[in-house]
Amino acid sequence: MTIKSIIKGCGGYLPEKVLSNHDLAKMVDTSDEWIKQRTGIESRHIAAEDETTSAMAIKAAEDALLHADMPAADIDAVIVATTTPDLTFPATAAHVQAGLGMAHGFAFDVQAVCSGFIYALTTADSLIQAGRAKNVLVIGAEKMSSIVDWNDRGTCILFADGAGAVVLSAEETDEQKGILSAHLHSDGRQKDLLCTSGGPGTTGDAGVIHMEGREVFKHAVQHLAEAVDEALESNGIAPDEIDWLVPHQANIRIIESTAKKLGMSMDKVVTTVATHGNTSAASVPLALNAAVKDGRIKRGDLILTEAMGGGFTWGSALIRY
Ligand code: ACO
Repeated sequence: MTIKSIIKGCGGYLPEKVLSNHDLAKMVDTSDEWIKQRTGIESRHIAAEDETTSAMAIKAAEDALLHADMPAADIDAVIVATTTPDLTFPATAAHVQAGLGMAHGFAFDVQAVCSGFIYALTTADSLIQAGRAKNVLVIGAEKMSSIVDWNDRGTCILFADGAGAVVLSAEETDEQKGILSAHLHSDGRQKDLLCTSGGPGTTGDAGVIHMEGREVFKHAVQHLAEAVDEALESNGIAPDEIDWLVPHQANIRIIESTAKKLGMSMDKVVTTVATHGNTSAASVPLALNAAVKDGRIKRGDLILTEAMGGGFTWGSALIRY
């Protein structure tokens, strides 16, 4: 028997305030039609000014614990994937640990921008397989609105806020269940195509998002196609064996291109981009949570998830839910 990492529960949180494309058209020179056509986004959630990344992460974590029917006392590690930490330090995961009333285990952040959740999930899976943790809270949480340049119509229409979480638990089994594979990649040579204009070690502030949209789009389509191929090949499975594609929600055109590459019809693809926008590290767990809670994803289903983000970073995970 081997140790497998099983998703015991999922959770999510979206801030109350909804910003529509029509609202954005009053702020910058854009239109609902342009945004919908180029990105598939219709509206997105924006955190209140005093609502922190950790506050959203805690709500998503509590939702996931409830779904897993597990008290916080049973969690032995908290990993938060975020680009928008509450403070430069301590880690947002430490804020979450405190918020959950935990004085045990360990907590740290992972920074891989939009791929953050895949990186955090892979890290948690490795800790579980190595016997270093039994129950891990894996959270993707972002307040992207705090680093958006609200005068840049090329980026302010895309990004949004929210948090998603899973409880990942160790199980000794011979069955092919839980996380079946995870693959991570990065190419630091492309770091300037999607970055912020500042940081603690340079400008002393967080900076705002800078993106070469067309270049990012091109790389995203290519890397995500390679990532899904890699996941299929390493598991020896055919595309038609996948029940659900749960992709990073950046742009409906990028998602459609990955689905096309897999020969999958869009009704097997979980999309939340229309009403969530791009919530960076929160996007995959939020999409997973939505499809689990509305009953589309069922126990035993085979899920392929992927993401790509600044760095560039990208990766995939194949999961038997
Ligand atoms: N409203 C109206 N016009 C706009 C807007 C806007 N919000 N933004 C840009 N334009 C204009 C541009 O100025 C340009 O005008 P010009 O031709 O007169 O110069 C024209 O629209 C076309 O601009 P492009 O940037 O070439 O438009 P494109 O079709 O590439 O769409 C977009 C832009 C949506 C940003 C696209 O490039 C994209 O989605 N890229 C991927 C970026 C992404 O998803 N990043 C997220 C992080 S990484 C990730 O998660 C994968």
